[in-house]
Amino acid sequence: MKTDLNFVARNTFSFPKSFKINWFPGHMVKTYRNLPEQLKKTDIFLEIRDSRIPLTSGNDELDKIIPSHIKRIIIFNKYDICNQNLTKKIVENYTKQRNIKYMFASAKTSQNIEKIMDIIIRENNPKFKTVGTWCMIGGIPNVGKSTIINAFRTMSRDLKDLSEQTVKYAQTGKTAATTRNMDSFKINLNPVIYIIDTPGIMPPQIKSNEQGIKLSVCGNIKEKIAGKEMICDYLLWFMNKNKEYNYVKALRLENPTDSIHELVSLVGEKFRIQNTSNIHDFIYLCFKEGKFGKFTFDNYNTNEIVGI
Ligand code: G4P
Repeated sequence: MKTDLNFVARNTFSFPKSFKINWFPGHMVKTYRNLPEQLKKTDIFLEIRDSRIPLTSGNDELDKIIPSHIKRIIIFNKYDICNQNLTKKIVENYTKQRNIKYMFASAKTSQNIEKIMDIIIRENNPKFKTVGTWCMIGGIPNVGKSTIINAFRTMSRDLKDLSEQTVKYAQTGKTAATTRNMDSFKINLNPVIYIIDTPGIMPPQIKSNEQGIKLSVCGNIKEKIAGKEMICDYLLWFMNKNKEYNYVKALRLENPTDSIHELVSLVGEKFRIQNTSNIHDFIYLCFKEGKFGKFTFDNYNTNEIVGI
């Protein structure tokens, strides 16, 4: 695609004065309160993150809550929709100094789900041998926890031997924070492995609006907190800054634009969408469907590190 040589993108993304992104609904307080009791019977903690924001989708609070004797493995899910080279670099740098076991995965396509099961089996050293291994799955909302559980369940090598009443499918959801109660599932028979599903929990405080907007773009924070316009504007800014101009063709534009208002007006016209909110939804859907490309929003920058 030819780009307009005079096109200059904004250098920085600015937030309105005194604007602060935060999201910590009441049911998360309850989850934090219940976690220590659940962790007593946990052998392995699988922390799920979003590969598009491998650092930002961590949660510092888990450090404080999870006892050190529990084995931890980080699964960087949604690997199919990130910039894999950049995510790999960030994750290698992050895990190198911390002796963290990790795996990239795409639960939606079942990529590496079997390998995760192998790690669990390798790490398998249950507190109560007759009971089996208890593996808690956790992380912030919408990183794919339920999809991973369902992928485990589907691939389980002893699937046909698992009695149906012990098996429940995890509920996946379009909006952040679909799972509200803790549930457990048997995912393997030999050795016996259970998964404890937990509702997504955000850290009580989002450290910066930059983290907040990345979490909003990736669907971890309810859209109405930042608002659709800001989410689309951040996406536009991010793509321009990184010279990712697939959106120009995908949205049938002549040239890149740095103005969200111009973008909304042009998309409305080209695709005959009337209402601004519907235009925002359309732009966001195109991003979600990968029509603009595969992006990683975190940087190779240790200052951004959150999590373990
Ligand atoms: P949660 O339990 O952590 O809250 O997340 P959940 O499994 O409900 O997944 C949240 C969304 O992320 C779902 O999309 C799910 O399909 C999608 N997802 C999960 N894993 C992957 C993955 O590896 N790759 C991709 N590309 N997407 C993944 P949704 O918007 O609810 O529905 P839909 O996109 O499936 O229509």
